Amino acid sequence: MGAALRGAGKPTAKQWSAAKCRCTLSLCSQRPRPDSAMASPAGGVVIVGSGLIGRSWAMLFASGGFKVKLYDIEQQQITNALETIRKEMKWLEQSGSLKGSLSAEQQLSLISGCGNLAEAVEGTMHIQECVPENLELKKKIFAQLDRIVDDRVILSSSSSCLLPSKLFVGLAHVKQCIVAHPVNPPYYVPLVELVPHPETAPATMDRTHALMRKIGQTPVRVLREIEGFVLNRLQYAIISEAWRLVEEGIVSANDLDLVMSDGLGMRYAFIGPLETMHLNAEGMVSYCDRYCEGIKHVLKTFGPIPEFSRTTVEKVNQDMCMKVPDDPGHLDARRQWRDDCLMRLAQLKRQVQPQ
Ligand code: NAI
Repeated sequence: MGAALRGAGKPTAKQWSAAKCRCTLSLCSQRPRPDSAMASPAGGVVIVGSGLIGRSWAMLFASGGFKVKLYDIEQQQITNALETIRKEMKWLEQSGSLKGSLSAEQQLSLISGCGNLAEAVEGTMHIQECVPENLELKKKIFAQLDRIVDDRVILSSSSSCLLPSKLFVGLAHVKQCIVAHPVNPPYYVPLVELVPHPETAPATMDRTHALMRKIGQTPVRVLREIEGFVLNRLQYAIISEAWRLVEEGIVSANDLDLVMSDGLGMRYAFIGPLETMHLNAEGMVSYCDRYCEGIKHVLKTFGPIPEFSRTTVEKVNQDMCMKVPDDPGHLDARRQWRDDCLMRLAQLKRQVQPQ
């Protein structure tokens, strides 16, 4: 997602002029399409919380032809969101990266703001909650929604790590509840983890899965809730070993990052670790016959959970700051570059993996 959606408020002139420059970086002018026709899907979507993730969801749902109502406790956030989305969509259209088959103007006409939650949810088929990651706040919102929705609507949370059993506890409509965890920036990184409460109805999972496919995202079914879901468990396993290797002086922080960005990450943008095993020998069985003893031998040398001691934190921070100083300007410029790369990678993936 561009700079416009990263900040919760209005983008600066500098961000927009940088965004304009990014138009020339686009690899392909072909507009990506979600996997269904855009024939006015029944029912609309309500986004609760119009911050970074709420705005991204609004754009994704509009790209799929869905009517979207943006609700927020702060009216100004809705105003900012609508303005930011307009600018971002126009830029995406110019750069050939707008999702869906509708024009930016058509998509924009599908999105509106609403300052009244009960009015917003009337007749909706899917509610996507995007308020800050705070269990008590989210529970309060879901309790409020629970009182005003019917038996058909899906109640979905964008939570990154709150367990559905804690989030949806005691709700009358618990069968309709699910976590749909996106990855930032959702417009370019399509993965969505779907995590059920133990009482979530299979139809809720199926309907949410189908909806995510309709808007061009890549949903995965997490079959049972677990701390960190799947994405963060994998991410934390990598962080843990990366930290240990740097702390123990086996490799520098910069070289460690290169091992991912110019090594493993190159493959992982296209195939996962399991398919990597399958392809790195004559199939999975052959790979395990050849390499699993060696893998177990190395795994036994892994240590305990790192303490993330202050000394190491400061040392790694020093190394990171040599590349990207940790002031807002440098960090934001680097994030912008990262998002440009992700946008181009998303375009490349669509070219080489037609869906
Ligand atoms: P944010 O802080 O940008 O936006 C939160 C919005 O919720 C604000 O507009 C705020 O005014 C609004 N809000 C607060 N209380 C409210 C209430 N009672 N009713 C209605 N609106 C209310 O937060 P962000 O980054 O968009 O995160 C939202 C959720 O998405 C969190 O659960 C987060 O963990 C999750 N998430 C965030 C990712 C990220 O990289 N930022 C990635 C994946 C998931």
